[in-house]
Amino acid sequence: MKIAIVGCGNMGMAFAKSFLQYDLVKKENLFLIEKSAERADVLREERAGVVVDVVSGHIAECDIVILSVKPQDFASVQAGLREFLEPQQVVLSIMAGIPIATIQEKLDHRLVIRAMPNTPAMIGMGITGFSAAKELSFAQLLKVDNLINATGRSVFLEDETMLDAVTALSGSGPAYFYYLVKAMVEAGKQMGFEESMATLLVKQTMLGSFHLINNADKSLDDLIKAVASKGGTTEAALSQFEAGNLSKTLQAGILAAEQRAKELSK
Ligand SMILES: NC(=O)c1ccc[n+]([C@@H]2O[C@H](COP(=O)([O-])OP(=O)(O)OC[C@H]3O[C@@H](n4cnc5c(N)ncnc54)[C@H](OP(=O)(O)O)[C@@H]3O)[C@@H](O)[C@H]2O)c1
Repeated sequence: MKIAIVGCGNMGMAFAKSFLQYDLVKKENLFLIEKSAERADVLREERAGVVVDVVSGHIAECDIVILSVKPQDFASVQAGLREFLEPQQVVLSIMAGIPIATIQEKLDHRLVIRAMPNTPAMIGMGITGFSAAKELSFAQLLKVDNLINATGRSVFLEDETMLDAVTALSGSGPAYFYYLVKAMVEAGKQMGFEESMATLLVKQTMLGSFHLINNADKSLDDLIKAVASKGGTTEAALSQFEAGNLSKTLQAGILAAEQRAKELSK
């Protein structure tokens, strides 16, 4: 299999490294197309594939072409891609907010998959939602699903519009998590801890709690109850959260992200 990745920043590189880690493609068959000279030098140093600075004839050799430039840079690669794309090639876009129909039209190409990963893909622990144009065969879908699974897990969405919700929930999700971690670390500092100690306490709490969600065979409500005894310290914190509408505020934030994703998709 030959793969081209157009735009090798954070996400493009996460995909490239995962494919190599699982031997899904050989380095000589992985074309990394990167405009930034500085970034291209890093890619060459890392020997992660064949580094190229512009979309060129290499594209025509590839089975799968991954588009991982920023959405606003899509226009800068359109013409080159139109010139070299062959009808049987599959285009996998991870660009936020650009619908399959738009990509098909701009590239004059039918076989388009649109995916929304998240940054834990960088360490093979991402989750990616994806949708596909109806022209793709089941075998083509599975091939791309296998690739995405090298970066973590995947969910197929028949309804492409649900990608806006994926964007809001898991695409942006890591930032919500860091935000919570940061708030907890700040509270730790206010109570007198050094930042490093507060961070250790919070990070290990998050890690352990995550594993309990997966292993304790209890609902989230039961897990909360197991920590919060009546009249105790956790209850004092939870009452304060409720008084400040924290849960509702978080939900409203996520719905605002979905709304923004919808606007960007127009
Ligand atoms: N980061 C996330 O959490 C996340 C999650 C899901 C989806 N995405 C999507 O993933 C895509 C990439 O995001 P990212 O965070 O990886 O961005 P990034 O780090 O900025 O990577 C994009 C790379 O593409 C390069 N590039 C721009 N125009 C190019 C061209 N014409 N030819 C070749 N390379 C070109 C950029 O170079 P310059 O810096 O010189 O412009 C940059 O190195 C975006 O569309 C984003 O919507 C990101």
